[in-house]
Amino acid sequence: MRIAVIGTGYVGLSTGVCLAEIGHHVICIDTSEEKITLLRGGKSPIYEPGMEELLTKNMEAKRLQFTTSHREGLEKSEVIIVAVGTPQQDSGEADLTYLFQAIQDAAPYIEKGSIIVIKSTVPVGTNEKVKRLLEAFGQNKVSPFVVSNPEFLRQGSAVLDTLNPDRIVIGCENKEPAAVIEKMYAPLNAKVVKTDARSAEMIKYASNAFLATKISFINNIGNLCEAVGANVEDVSKGMGLDQRIGAAFLQSGIGYGGSCFPKDVSALLAAAKEYHVPFSMIEETMMINNRQKLLLVKKALNRFGDLKHKKIAVLGFAFKPETDDMREAPSITIIHSLLNEGASVIGYDPVATRNAKGIFGEKIAYATSVGEAIKESDAVFIVTEWKEIKQLVLSEVISQMKQPIVFDGRNSFSEEAVRDCEEIEYYPIGKPAI
Ligand code: UGA
Repeated sequence: MRIAVIGTGYVGLSTGVCLAEIGHHVICIDTSEEKITLLRGGKSPIYEPGMEELLTKNMEAKRLQFTTSHREGLEKSEVIIVAVGTPQQDSGEADLTYLFQAIQDAAPYIEKGSIIVIKSTVPVGTNEKVKRLLEAFGQNKVSPFVVSNPEFLRQGSAVLDTLNPDRIVIGCENKEPAAVIEKMYAPLNAKVVKTDARSAEMIKYASNAFLATKISFINNIGNLCEAVGANVEDVSKGMGLDQRIGAAFLQSGIGYGGSCFPKDVSALLAAAKEYHVPFSMIEETMMINNRQKLLLVKKALNRFGDLKHKKIAVLGFAFKPETDDMREAPSITIIHSLLNEGASVIGYDPVATRNAKGIFGEKIAYATSVGEAIKESDAVFIVTEWKEIKQLVLSEVISQMKQPIVFDGRNSFSEEAVRDCEEIEYYPIGKPAI
């Protein structure tokens, strides 16, 4: 199939590269010259394991191209996938400016019979608006087929998730375009859910909000475990083995971040308010998450009394491992709060330091290794569970610190590993301190 993908962010690029990998001819379009030049050179603008290998392989196989020209990209494309960003507005609603702009830019070049696939996360009803826009801007020659096809990939495992999806959701009232999109994904052998566009749009928001709620739930259980002297990891295990609950996303930590959960939870709440459907559970999910991000600072304040002039080493800036993304990362709230408390902060992350410099500037120091960060520190905060950080030997860590105090926001170490290190003062999440 000949496929065009508009937008080369996480979702667009992963989709384009993976569709080429399963044999389609894909052309990715982006308005950013800089990104397209980088991609044409086989370089990925985002840090994503496996991406550059597949990029190069499929470009060499002549199945994958990049362009800034809508004319070049859209001519002869049977399927046009729109995967531009839908960021959050101050009101909590999704901002559809990029999406509508992309549709307007593309409309004159879309050939009759092409199918427009909306992959961007969009509020219920947006596919219908896109259809009306296409009719208005496409001078009536444009096919009215618009298919909702939300994406469920995770950053850090985008390629793997795109090639091995749990399900493919296809939302369209018309059977023919839905069948074409089903065929496009056939090589992936995934389960397919066919429904109407509105339900498909809702599946995306409901899935992300449910997962975010699952995390907030276990985080609150973790806090209760600490209070009553239980162990949240064992509780998660005991709950997760019940197939009706499931073990995934039951890891207690310092709150969810990233470009998706916070934005999509807010958008779902905005929709509930717009339609006057009470959904305070979602507000609670958000409140718990905001509180959770401050947990390590709270624990440090309890331990030290105040944090004035304390040197705190923050290990990890990214919102999760295997990404350099810091959008809504707990590290942002934690570091700002540490600075407000008068602490001095030195941070380390294997890939997100450049982004961190854009956020904190000169307010904190940046280390190029864990060793440099922890040297002479009063406490270590483990914020992102990078493999490199989980593999640290705690006795070696504390031997370089001024005080042997570790606040672990990701429960990165086993109880044995901590007990092996005699002098340590270790504060995990949702279980007793050691
Ligand atoms: C999330 C969803 O998992 C994807 O299915 C979805 O496609 C994507 O949003 C999106 O809408 O584009 P992502 O934000 O990349 O993916 O990352 P996740 O792996 O879901 O992690 C999100 C946050 O939850 C991270 O901050 C992570 O640390 C936290 N988390 C996750 C926990 O605190 N505990 C857990 O048990 C799992």
